Amino acid sequence: MVGAGISTPSGIPDFRSPGSGLYSNLLQYNIPYPEAIFELEFFFHNPKPFFTLAKQLYPGNYRPNITHYFFRLLHDKGLLLRLYTQNIDGLERVSGIPVSKLVEAHGTFASATCTVCRRSFPEKDWWADVMMDRVPCCPVCAGIVKPDIVFFGEPLPERFLLHVLDFPMADLLLILGTSLEVEPFASLSEAVGASVPRLLINRDLVGTFAWRPRSRDVVQLGDVVHSVERLVELLGWTKELQDLVQRETRKA
Ligand code: OAD
Ligand code: ZN
Repeated sequence: MVGAGISTPSGIPDFRSPGSGLYSNLLQYNIPYPEAIFELEFFFHNPKPFFTLAKQLYPGNYRPNITHYFFRLLHDKGLLLRLYTQNIDGLERVSGIPVSKLVEAHGTFASATCTVCRRSFPEKDWWADVMMDRVPCCPVCAGIVKPDIVFFGEPLPERFLLHVLDFPMADLLLILGTSLEVEPFASLSEAVGASVPRLLINRDLVGTFAWRPRSRDVVQLGDVVHSVERLVELLGWTKELQDLVQRETRKA
């Protein structure tokens, strides 16, 4: 399970870190309060701030970091059951993890839907508008075309239901870079069996690790990149990960 904290080393601000988080840097977005940027009511009143954020997150503006590639390596080794992410930056896909291994719980910019007639649009149709600071509109009914990001109050993607099968099957739960504050995602942290070890890698002690710790919990507080490098070193995978990062960087 991952959140915005795995992408801060790629240069994307998280949401709740005081000072640097998106929710404390609203001036540029011109919104009345932080969560408005992901609220439908505000979006229909003024969709511009959300599309400003979308433009900033345009695929290609940012690169995965070693944390994303660590999960890619787990996948390459056949060890990754699934990666549940709250992130909408798409960096898990860019790192080469197949979409079938991902649950993008808060949606994705990889597609968009007309808010009126519900027609679906592939990426290429509407990014041009976003990049030119225009609100993309449906060619059929003129409704606003909204990227498939989950706003507050909207249902999570159907794939989120995979958790019902995945979590009881897991041998180990890794949780990285999330405040575990947003439901229903946060509660997944309790969906593995009681004997399954959970490893939290994060700057702060969060969620159930703080208020309902389990005897097999392991907590590594501090910078995510440093912690992942340390874990990879303990696993003896340092060279392999470096090679992977180099290969992918060259490709890019
Ligand atoms: P948050 O911003 O709430 O939490 C990020 C966590 O990562 C915090 O605990 C930070 O301390 C930690 N962190 C940040 N940078 C780090 C670093 N370099 N090393 C270690 N830890 C670091 O982000 P999320 O938990 O992902 O919804 O937020 C959940 C949801 O809230 C988001 O998906 C978003 C927002 O509303 C949507 O986008 C729809
Ligand atoms: Zn339409």
